[in-house]
Amino acid sequence: MNIETVDKLSETGDLSDEEFLFLLSDDNPELSEYLAKKAQKVREKHYGKDVYIRGLIEFTNFCKNNCKYCGIRCGNKNADRYRLGPEEIISCGDMGYELGFRTFVLQGGEDPYFTDDKMADIVSALKDRHPDCAVTLSIGERSRESYERLFDAGADRYLLRHETADKAHYESLHPADMSFDNRMRCLNDLRDIGYQVGCGMMIGSPGQRLEHLVRDLRFLREFKPQMVGIGPFVPHHDTEYAHMPAGSVELTLKLLSIIRLILPEVLLPATTALGTLDPLGREKGLAAGANVIMPNLSPTEVRGKYLLYDNKICTGEEAAECIRCLTMRVKNAGYDIVEDRGDHLSFKK
Ligand code: 5AD
Ligand code: FES
Repeated sequence: MNIETVDKLSETGDLSDEEFLFLLSDDNPELSEYLAKKAQKVREKHYGKDVYIRGLIEFTNFCKNNCKYCGIRCGNKNADRYRLGPEEIISCGDMGYELGFRTFVLQGGEDPYFTDDKMADIVSALKDRHPDCAVTLSIGERSRESYERLFDAGADRYLLRHETADKAHYESLHPADMSFDNRMRCLNDLRDIGYQVGCGMMIGSPGQRLEHLVRDLRFLREFKPQMVGIGPFVPHHDTEYAHMPAGSVELTLKLLSIIRLILPEVLLPATTALGTLDPLGREKGLAAGANVIMPNLSPTEVRGKYLLYDNKICTGEEAAECIRCLTMRVKNAGYDIVEDRGDHLSFKK
């Protein structure tokens, strides 16, 4: 039984590749339960029962990339494209502030329309209106100069999933004009500049083997991001992966627990993709060691258009309804949503 391996992981924060592989391949539910217990303890030691909320503003679904798994890839001619104007973005922020959000995540496809000038104006306007809030960007690969410019405009954090730490696997998921090396260059630049950085991967993406996930864990342990976003792969009907199986909820939960044990202070969301595959996915994520939830603040008219995968939840609800629903869910799961920026402990002033 792998109980000793879990004990070793929670004492040392590390395992050999073979041991990680052992843990991942053992699908005994009691093992997952034991991992979750250990992960909860660690999460509570650092963050108590607090759950941080991030208001997600999906401001453009134009994207110049053609990632094979993604519903808003440029090659999908059926995607109904939209962009929010600066005033709309700011008013999402104002509404979010009223609802108790102290972090805004500006997320979009890689849309060249949003130049550094435009993005810097939006970031500084949000920070001027809400100086007590953090602004997180999730707008893909850009130049170092661009990242610097946006940091100087006031952006605090940046999410850029590495998608997979295995170069060959990365190349199989992306067209030839995207590269693993540039992804890594971006992540290193973001960290050097001073952002709180989030990376992460899909669980069960096409071609992924458990060995790839071991590489992901090794990468996370070495890179030490402040945030890690993981969720199951969910097929989108207008992609070449339309008929691929979705990732496993159980494996995702197990990985959440392992990541909590590797990076005890990490900010770890229970993702929308997890909630999409399992009606209680987000609650299960919290119980497995997650401590962040990212409800959508985008205007209802565009929500149904930001579709990276099929059956995405919360596309019909108003922001206020979502937060009411989540507050109840989180409370029932034994945790509390707090009105706080929710910085990584090493970034707390
Ligand atoms: N299923 C699950 N997650 C996806 N993403 C993109 N497409 C899918 C999909 N089909 C994730 C990627 C990306 C993030 C914004 O969403 O990991 O980085
Ligand atoms: Fe790359 Fe959407 S096309 S994440």
